[in-house]
Amino acid sequence: MSPASSVPPAAALLAWYDRHRRRLPWRAEPGEAADPYRVWLSEIMLQQTTVVAVLPYYEAFLTRFPSVRALAEAPEADVMAAWAGLGYYARARNLHACAKAVAGAGGFPRDVAGLRALPGIGPYTASAVAAIAFGVPAVPVDGNVERVAARVFAVTQALPAAKQDIAAAAARLGEQPEARARPSDFAQALFDLGATVCTPASPACGVCPWLGACAARRAGIAAELPRKAPKRARPLRHGVHFWLTDPAGRVLLRRRPPRGLLGGMTELPGTEWRVSPWAATEWLAFAPMRAEWRPAGQVRHGLTHFELAIEVVAASVPAIRAEGFLRPVADLAGEALPSVMRKCVRVASAA
Ligand code: ADE
Repeated sequence: MSPASSVPPAAALLAWYDRHRRRLPWRAEPGEAADPYRVWLSEIMLQQTTVVAVLPYYEAFLTRFPSVRALAEAPEADVMAAWAGLGYYARARNLHACAKAVAGAGGFPRDVAGLRALPGIGPYTASAVAAIAFGVPAVPVDGNVERVAARVFAVTQALPAAKQDIAAAAARLGEQPEARARPSDFAQALFDLGATVCTPASPACGVCPWLGACAARRAGIAAELPRKAPKRARPLRHGVHFWLTDPAGRVLLRRRPPRGLLGGMTELPGTEWRVSPWAATEWLAFAPMRAEWRPAGQVRHGLTHFELAIEVVAASVPAIRAEGFLRPVADLAGEALPSVMRKCVRVASAA
């Protein structure tokens, strides 16, 4: 980005947003005040996830916990169960801790620094909530905003090294008086532009309000930006999980330790997840009971730092006597089962 490159006009983006804004359940209509609880909840849910994936969870979560106080007072297990399937479960625990802090303080802090001090709120979320809920002139930089900023200023350096330059470019966009006059709309206009026009693979430059000002478009490299350094392949790990049922139609479950990967979530009992595959004699030592284990199927699932290959084995016994707890198979939808375990349940139920 050269210091001389011109800044795309905030007014043009805001005019575009006034015509094309997406209607989203956490978004205030024009003239309405935003609800900080709804904005904060949506921003936490939208981390690392798409709007489409979040929508059904968001509505169900709000029905169950209609206010920050209701969320603060709910048992942690209920919060985890409502979150199950969204992934990154530390977020759900932090969400609960944050709700308690906010309910205790009588409301959300209204500035970036105050928000940043709450559990689970990093720089992005603090800026997003401050701008959207409280009209603080801050530009939250998520993946969409990063892409828009990298393109309009033609930042050609690859991520992650380019992160700082791109953040500075995004801040420059927000410094314009028209952006500072409407921080909430400006932030959400950037999100919408990135999600609907300035898309990763084939940007719809023909309908972009910043077409004339976009340096990457001028150089013919819009679709190539932002460049990304090649990712290292995720290593593969192996596990075996046990589907143990009784004649009453119940299955054995256990709770994962409260901290760490998928902390506090429910799972089928299983081995550790390790780099080398398991031989039958080895995994039998981890079985919750002696039983006639039969193969029920395989599951593949990507987690943040590794890919999992799970072998599901199943057995039925007259009575389950093992560590853990029993749940009717028909009631598993209400359990805090992460996506990988839902896949295991699906495979075992179909076998
Ligand atoms: N992505 C992150 N926050 C968002 C929001 N408030 N609206 C739309 N997309 C988003």
